[in-house]
Amino acid sequence: MPNPDYDLSGRDIIVVGGGGYIGAHVCKTIAERGGRPIVFDNFQAGHEHAVKWGPFVKVDLRDRAAILAAFEQHPNANTVVHLASSIEVGEGEKAPEGFYENNVSGALNLLMAMREVGADRLIFSSTCATYGETQNMPLLESEIQNPFSVYGKTKLAIEHMIQSYHKAYGLNYVTFRYFNASGADASGEIGEEHDPETHLIPNALKAAAGLGQGLKLFGTDYDTPDGTCVRDYIHVNDIAEAHIQAIRVMDGGLTQAEVNLGTGEGYSVLQIIKAIEKVTGLTVPYEAGPRREGDLTQLYADASRARNILDFTPEHSSLENIIATAWNFHRAKWGL
Ligand SMILES: NC(=O)c1ccc[n+]([C@@H]2O[C@H](COP(=O)([O-])OP(=O)(O)OC[C@H]3O[C@@H](n4cnc5c(N)ncnc54)[C@H](O)[C@@H]3O)[C@@H](O)[C@H]2O)c1
Repeated sequence: MPNPDYDLSGRDIIVVGGGGYIGAHVCKTIAERGGRPIVFDNFQAGHEHAVKWGPFVKVDLRDRAAILAAFEQHPNANTVVHLASSIEVGEGEKAPEGFYENNVSGALNLLMAMREVGADRLIFSSTCATYGETQNMPLLESEIQNPFSVYGKTKLAIEHMIQSYHKAYGLNYVTFRYFNASGADASGEIGEEHDPETHLIPNALKAAAGLGQGLKLFGTDYDTPDGTCVRDYIHVNDIAEAHIQAIRVMDGGLTQAEVNLGTGEGYSVLQIIKAIEKVTGLTVPYEAGPRREGDLTQLYADASRARNILDFTPEHSSLENIIATAWNFHRAKWGL
């Protein structure tokens, strides 16, 4: 049902990476507000079954001519949501060239095509992984960005490219630094389907369901109350809603912003496991292992800029709702 808060009727919005986990939720929310999400995706990680709220163009961001041709098919779209990237952090460490090519060159191709066709509004999915190790929690957007991983470095490079396009050519943008996207749409029709899956909640649910080989904890000797890493989990429907608010404020004249998307609250790995056991009634079997290189002790957002600029507060991100909706999706997917 279109939300009376912000109406996107008659709007074409290009969603690059709209076949992926977060992209599918963004598309559904755009459609619920009356807009038409147009997905550009090469399905290197996304899923055809997750694209169902508007037209689809199969296109690879690394192919500059093909991206331009895709834009030319949809001349009414001046707003682009850019979610496409390689995201598996370990893969970036082993083979950085593919990461830089897909993420950085791909984003440059996108920016060039946008400029060529006159699309002048961009919402970009960056990450809290662009910050470095710091004790300054909660993290403000003004915190020094000193990413450890290749993944974080590619995202920071893209942030810089977007800032340069803003300065030189007047590109309007909102760069979101997502914290941990989690949960699933309450309908159960879309959810997190990465392959390989490296995220804690789906992997812990899998272990609870007796599928796979149990859960590995990467480090139990961190300087946190229970020794495990602390992260900020935000529901994917809240992330999608923040995109609608970003479109609204850009329509209202906002020209540039970097904005954290988190709840401001941190949970440890062991707290997540306990919450999963409570919601599912199952036990999560796990094995403590050594730290994983590059994992920071804790990361949680200062969420006040999103509140102030976008008038956005997460509404779906209680830990219980995140886990219940993820479990609802995965149980159906696994036939349980
Ligand atoms: N999931 C999280 O917790 C999280 C946290 C911080 C930032 N992000 C960022 O949010 C975005 C979406 O994340 P996600 O979890 O939905 O990932 P995802 O892998 O599910 O979705 C990414 C989509 O982009 C597409 N894609 C990748 N490279 C492409 C290319 N060259 N051409 C066309 N399409 C391409 C994939 O096929 C996929 O559909 C990513 O940019 C990611 O870095 C995610």
